[in-house]
Amino acid sequence: MTQIAPMLLSLLATGSLILAGCAQPSTNAPRRSRELFGTVDGKQVFLYALSNGKGMEARITNYGGIVVALVVPDRAGKPGDIVLGYDSLSSYLKATPYFGAIVGRYGNRIGKARFTLDGKEYTLKANDGANTLHGGLKGFDKVVWEPDESTPPSEPVLKLKYVSPDGEEGYPGTLTATVTYTLTDSNELRIDYSATTDKPTVLNLTHHSYFNLAGAGSGDILSHELMLNADRFTPIDSGLIPTGELQSVEGTPMDFRTSTAIGARINAKDDQLRYGRGYDHNWVLNRTGNGLSLAARVSEPASGRAMEVWTTEPGIQFYSGNFLDGSNVGKGGKVYAYRTGLCLETQHFPDSPNKPQFPSTVLKPGEKFTSTTVYKFMTR
Ligand code: BGC
Repeated sequence: MTQIAPMLLSLLATGSLILAGCAQPSTNAPRRSRELFGTVDGKQVFLYALSNGKGMEARITNYGGIVVALVVPDRAGKPGDIVLGYDSLSSYLKATPYFGAIVGRYGNRIGKARFTLDGKEYTLKANDGANTLHGGLKGFDKVVWEPDESTPPSEPVLKLKYVSPDGEEGYPGTLTATVTYTLTDSNELRIDYSATTDKPTVLNLTHHSYFNLAGAGSGDILSHELMLNADRFTPIDSGLIPTGELQSVEGTPMDFRTSTAIGARINAKDDQLRYGRGYDHNWVLNRTGNGLSLAARVSEPASGRAMEVWTTEPGIQFYSGNFLDGSNVGKGGKVYAYRTGLCLETQHFPDSPNKPQFPSTVLKPGEKFTSTTVYKFMTR
């Protein structure tokens, strides 16, 4: 017996012995499950649940790659859903301001809904006045993505693929895009994007969760404190199209280099805030190298929840939910009023296809586009 005990302990420590009646090692517990969410265009749509075993859970559908719910513990360990969204697929089909979606082929605006590439002009679908916004009338947020369930269900990973046909919404080239959501052990929601094309095209993929760290539907986001790691932003005209300049944030309400309450200056007399009806701008991230770099940090004093955004992208759109007007009745019947959610959309700059001085959004055949963004959660 004295010889057996140390052997048993060593087998237990290496996880190679499972005793009947004992708790199973948590590493093999399922961390991805799915249920039917509905049907769109004759295709089955699922609602996947990813959990990291540390109190975080993400519910994601392959319709639009939408993050339907993101459950994160507060300072006291109490879980709360911190993204705006709907309970049912039919609500997403009726009307949504891109709640939680993957946005493409070109996230954000392209001025006058056209651009020229290799000497040829392409006309896009205008869906924001004369401009195109978030991929056009039927962007990547409104299509059924093909789920790839080849990773074992013990891993909180969901891979999605969408093949956008040549000419879709006016964009050239068949674009094969993949998006992989991973919930990590360090309380991160990681999003890895990749894409290839068969003709030169333009591409700007992003994620459009509306966060409210106090809990979705619990009030406005004006007391959230925000830090943006950016010395400059891209000023816009009255149609929210960048003028092409990179302007210093110094001395303006756009200066979030030190953490500041979102509401502190949002109603200041300022042309940029007037054009955006609040914050709805792209910041030029301070970054070195090509790896993940800290873009933003946001915290909510009452719940103690905080989130960092890390990205490989050169820019971030901070949108303070200025177009929310209470017409969206969300999860649990909660009404999403003015400025009750904030978006931090990592991206290339808006209207880059018409702004040669901005980092290029062109993707050519033979190249592979890759991009990663991490939303990391903690409490204070
Ligand atoms: C844009 C806003 C737009 C919103 C749509 C944001 O990414 O910056 O201008 O109204 O998406 O819900």
